Amino acid sequence: MIVTSRSPGWSASPIATLTPLTCVEIKFWAPHHRLVAFHTAARHAVDRRRDPDHYARRLAQGEWLRLVDTYGYGADILDALNYGLGPISDSLTGDPLRQERRRRRTLAAGLLVPVERGAVAIRGADPILLLNDLYRDVDRFWLPLVDIQALRTADRRFRQGVPYSVLGHALHPWYGTYAPKRTEHLELFGTWLSAYGGLKDTAIDVGTGCGVLAFMLARAGFADVRAVDVNPNAVESVRRDLARQAERPAIRVRTSNLLEVVRQPADLIVFNPPWIAGIVDDPLDTALFYDDDLFERFFDESSGLLNPQGKVVLVFSNVLTLLRPDLPHPIEAELERGRFVLDTHLTRRVRATRGRKTREKVEIWVLSSVEADADH
Ligand SMILES: C[S@@+](CC[C@H](N)C(=O)[O-])C[C@H]1O[C@@H](n2cnc3c(N)ncnc32)[C@H](O)[C@@H]1O
Repeated sequence: MIVTSRSPGWSASPIATLTPLTCVEIKFWAPHHRLVAFHTAARHAVDRRRDPDHYARRLAQGEWLRLVDTYGYGADILDALNYGLGPISDSLTGDPLRQERRRRRTLAAGLLVPVERGAVAIRGADPILLLNDLYRDVDRFWLPLVDIQALRTADRRFRQGVPYSVLGHALHPWYGTYAPKRTEHLELFGTWLSAYGGLKDTAIDVGTGCGVLAFMLARAGFADVRAVDVNPNAVESVRRDLARQAERPAIRVRTSNLLEVVRQPADLIVFNPPWIAGIVDDPLDTALFYDDDLFERFFDESSGLLNPQGKVVLVFSNVLTLLRPDLPHPIEAELERGRFVLDTHLTRRVRATRGRKTREKVEIWVLSSVEADADH
């Protein structure tokens, strides 16, 4: 397959693709589509005596190159590529910005490194335990250096953990699992949860990610917490974190598209959904972007699984209204349909990051079913 691309400042170029390995059993999401068979790797090996800019230009032309000496030299080539492509225009936002980032990543992915028996086989490469976890069934292959860099960052995050003050302990997000960096929405949910006076038999955390809300629910005294996520890596992440706990919380976790595998009704159905409307074409995108019918499906399924006095809790943000005021608000649209009534709406300002002021607020929307409200 040949794809034509244009690099700003540099000439238009074809991006050739190599045959990826297809023999790998795909259980988790990993950069499998860029896993290249050892014997089909790129013809040209880079030579460390040359200026990295030389190879950066060749990558920008869509060439595939093999890195066979040092990790640091590979990083220099990628830096030179970024520099040569220049900054992304400020006028790009939303999906066009995401497409441009993806295009640049595709060019960078032309630089391949060898992986042998779970280790990056070039000098200066740190050990990455995740390579054994993700590619257990394949011994020798090539991966783009950009993927190796991402795996290295993920490996560090997994091993060191991310501390959550709302839990009083860290979680260890596994590769490809969403884990929030900012915590205002967790604090706001915690405030609401500590005042919650309803039944605490069963709760469901939809789209559990690293499991932070599920752990909060268990800590708040729910007897049975079901956590689900469409991303199998997130499910693996929560399983591994549960196994680390000396006293195992009452959380069961399963892979599920929304609530499709859940049968038992719940007192609370909690969902911190993706907050931005956009194209979903990468598993990690599912944490940040929603496509057309996600909310309708969620409300349809929730209305059938809520106990009579139960509540649906959405952890949301006004970021959608700020970015896309033209779009219908998915929660308000559901309220207008008349199946649920709004019980509580809490908001909280988001702290400025790097001195940049923001109008963003996080929100908690608590909904009850109309019948329960009428009985009350
Ligand atoms: C914003 S993240 C929230 C993660 C976590 N609950 C938290 O509060 O940090 C959204 C999560 O929803 C999951 N998700 C998106 N679409 C889903 C679907 N159709 N079914 C189940 N989970 C979904 C994503 O994989 C992601 O883990």
